[in-house]
Amino acid sequence: MEFGKEIRSEFPIFSSVGNQNLAYLDNAATTQKPKKVIDALVDFYSTSNANIGRGIYKLSMEAHQQYEDSRTTVAEFLNAKSANEIVFTKGTTEAINFIAVSYLEPNLEQGDEVLVTGMEHHSNLLPWQRACERTGAKLVVVESDEHGEVSLERMEESINSKTKFLAISHISNVLGVMNPVKEIIRKAHIHKIPVLVDGAQSVAHCKVDVQDLGADFYCLSGHKMYGPTGIGVLYINQAFQEGMLPFLVGGGVANGVEYQRITKYLPTPFCFEAGTPNLAGAVGLASAIEFLQEADMADLHKHELKLYNEMLAILEGQDNAIVYGNPANISSIVSFNIKDIHPYDIGNLLNSHNIAVRTGVHCAIPFVDSMNLLGTVRASFGLYNDLDEVHRLGDVLKQAKPGDWTRNRPNVRYLE
Ligand code: ALA
Repeated sequence: MEFGKEIRSEFPIFSSVGNQNLAYLDNAATTQKPKKVIDALVDFYSTSNANIGRGIYKLSMEAHQQYEDSRTTVAEFLNAKSANEIVFTKGTTEAINFIAVSYLEPNLEQGDEVLVTGMEHHSNLLPWQRACERTGAKLVVVESDEHGEVSLERMEESINSKTKFLAISHISNVLGVMNPVKEIIRKAHIHKIPVLVDGAQSVAHCKVDVQDLGADFYCLSGHKMYGPTGIGVLYINQAFQEGMLPFLVGGGVANGVEYQRITKYLPTPFCFEAGTPNLAGAVGLASAIEFLQEADMADLHKHELKLYNEMLAILEGQDNAIVYGNPANISSIVSFNIKDIHPYDIGNLLNSHNIAVRTGVHCAIPFVDSMNLLGTVRASFGLYNDLDEVHRLGDVLKQAKPGDWTRNRPNVRYLE
C-alpha cells in the first residue's frame, strides 16, 4: 500500500466539497473512513439488514453470520485464542466501564489498591476512580517522568500486596509515547495482578498481539482505526470470563427467564452484548481491519515516523516552539505549544489554513496539569498524511501570534 497523498483517493472525504485541500492531522481523535468501509456499511444496510439471534429466516441468519465473521476477523487481528474472547462494545470507553463494573468492583475491598498511570485519558481513569469510590479502595497513580514516560521501575515500586488491578494505555493520546506494556504486564502477573490495556491509540499504528502482550483485557475503538464510530472491542482473556456478570442485561443475554429466579445467562461473549448489537458497525470494523491489513504495519510505522521526525525538526528549528514527550519513543503524535500563545489560537490559525489538529487538554486533565500546562496543540498522523502537509503546518506556525484566546481568555481551557 502506498501511504500519503496516493491513498487519499480511497477516502471520499478528501474529495468532498471544501475538503480537497484539507490537511487532516487529528487522527488520534478519529480517523477518516476509506470507501471500502463506507461501502461495507451501505452494503450491510442495503442487502443484509435484519436482527440477529432472533429470526430463523434467511436474512436474519445471513446478518448473524456476517456479525460473527466480523468477530472472527477481530480475533485474528488481535491474535486472540478464540473469537469468544471478543466482545463488541460502543468503543473503548464502554469497554473500560464494563470491566470496572463487572469485573473490578465485585472483586475490590476497602483498602485494596488500583494502579493507573498519570498519563491516562479520562476514559481509562474515571471508571477506576469510581470503582474505588464505591468500594473504599484506593486509586494509586504512577506519575510519568520529565519525558512524559512511565518507567517499568516506577510501576514496579508501586505494586504491593494490596494492588488488585492495573490499567494502562498502550500509547498516550496526549504525547504519543508508547508504554512498555508487555514488560509491565509480566511484572504485574508475577504478583497475580490483572492488567487492562487501553489500546485506543495503538491499533492503527502498530501490530497488537494480545497473547504476546499477555493482556488480560484489551480495548479499542473502531473509529480510530479507519472504522465506523459507535463500535469498539473488549478483549477478555477467557481465564477471566468465568463468573463475570454482564455489564448490561436485556434482550439476547439470557438462557431462560423467570420472575422469581436468578436469570441464567448465555455463554460468553453473547451474554455480554445485551440488546441489538451495532451489526453494521461490526461489519464495518471488520472491513477497516481488512483495509489496515493491506498495509504493512512496519512500513506504516516508518511512514508515520518520517512525518513525526520532520515535524520535530521543524519545531526544533522554531525558537518559540516547545515539544513534549520523549522523541525516541513517539511516532504518530506531536504535542507542542508555541510560547505565550494559547493552544486554541494556534488551532484557529491552522484551521484558517485548512489544517485540522486537536488543541486543549485532550480528555486528560490530570496529565496536562502534571506538566503545568494549559493544554497543547496536537498533530496526529494517519496513513494518508504526507510531508507536504507537515511542511504546510510548519509554514503556518511561523506566522503564529497571540489571538483572541491569548488576549482575552488566557486561562480558559474549554471551548464554550
Ligand atoms: N480520545 C480522543 C482524543 O484523544 C478523542 O482526541
